[in-house]
Amino acid sequence: MRPTAATGSSHAEIVGDDAHGGQGAGAEHGSGTELEQRYANPGLPAHVYRRSDVDPKAAKRREREVAALFGLSTLGTLLFLVAYFAVKPSGAEGAEMLQRVGLSTKLLGLGLGIALFAIGAGAIHWAKTLMPDDEVVVDRKPMRSSDEDRAEAVAAMKEGAAGAGLGRRKLIRNSLLGALAPLGLLAILPLRDLGPLPGAALTGTAWKPGRRLVTDPTGRPIKPEDIPIGGVVHVLPEDIEEYEHPINEREKATTLVIRLAPDDIKDQKQRDWSVDGIVAYSKVCTHVGCPVGLYEQQTHHLLCPCHQSTFDVTRDCAVIFGPAARSLPQLPLAVDDEGYLVAREDFHEPVGPSYWERG
Ligand code: FES
Repeated sequence: MRPTAATGSSHAEIVGDDAHGGQGAGAEHGSGTELEQRYANPGLPAHVYRRSDVDPKAAKRREREVAALFGLSTLGTLLFLVAYFAVKPSGAEGAEMLQRVGLSTKLLGLGLGIALFAIGAGAIHWAKTLMPDDEVVVDRKPMRSSDEDRAEAVAAMKEGAAGAGLGRRKLIRNSLLGALAPLGLLAILPLRDLGPLPGAALTGTAWKPGRRLVTDPTGRPIKPEDIPIGGVVHVLPEDIEEYEHPINEREKATTLVIRLAPDDIKDQKQRDWSVDGIVAYSKVCTHVGCPVGLYEQQTHHLLCPCHQSTFDVTRDCAVIFGPAARSLPQLPLAVDDEGYLVAREDFHEPVGPSYWERG
């Protein structure tokens, strides 16, 4: 039996007897087959006690080391959180943005690495230096143990937990809980970077009532007289850069403005949402989202270069060829007090590829 309080279990007795007696399981059964005689079970080697098993001061030192590693893990998690919230690339541009992204990535990686490494190292150090390390021989059992054996197993587990010092070594237990509790944040927080939550983000765009149409990329507001019949202008909502995710918003709100001869407009809704023959349609293809950018002035067809879906602008951008399943959404237009083209409201349906809720 091991000499410390932590190891005073019946397991240690089994080990000691087995180790010193040099008798294997096979010999115990005494079947005496030729095979067993030829390959005699050598038994377990004598148990080697660790310093922390026999010296309470050494055990206390190991305990502090384990707690220090768990504490280090907590610091790693804190570094990750601080880096995630304090070093944001948003708001910066160009070289500064790249610098911030680089710094943020390095600090996040460092924090994550320290948190995971230290908690793993602490657990290994704890197991190797303080938890019972008795060698045990257990005979193979039937698949389902008897109720007595199961009760014995539960008792053994409780004894093991007590041996590991979960109840007694409060410093280790508390520091481990302190390290484990915030660890889940490391997995959850980065999900925020996948983008805004579905919902309004899928159905709405940055177009709002009264928001001016400005040319992409120069940002110049436009008046109806700026666009000749047959003319095409790529536009975005004014001040789109002020949105929280301007790149996402640009991709959703990108719009084509086309001027038709008023008589060429066949659809009543299309006419109601136009200004002097000027119509505006989402530029995001309803097939898989490529930019629909090729306008054939003579036929009034809009072509998507990816898979050749073709939309008839005079018929409310209905699909006349290709794999797209529905028309391009139209943006209702108006003119503001200063004579500039503005959105009357947002698109009435989601832009881009169809998704699961569309009929
Ligand atoms: S994305 Fe436009 S046709 Fe496929």
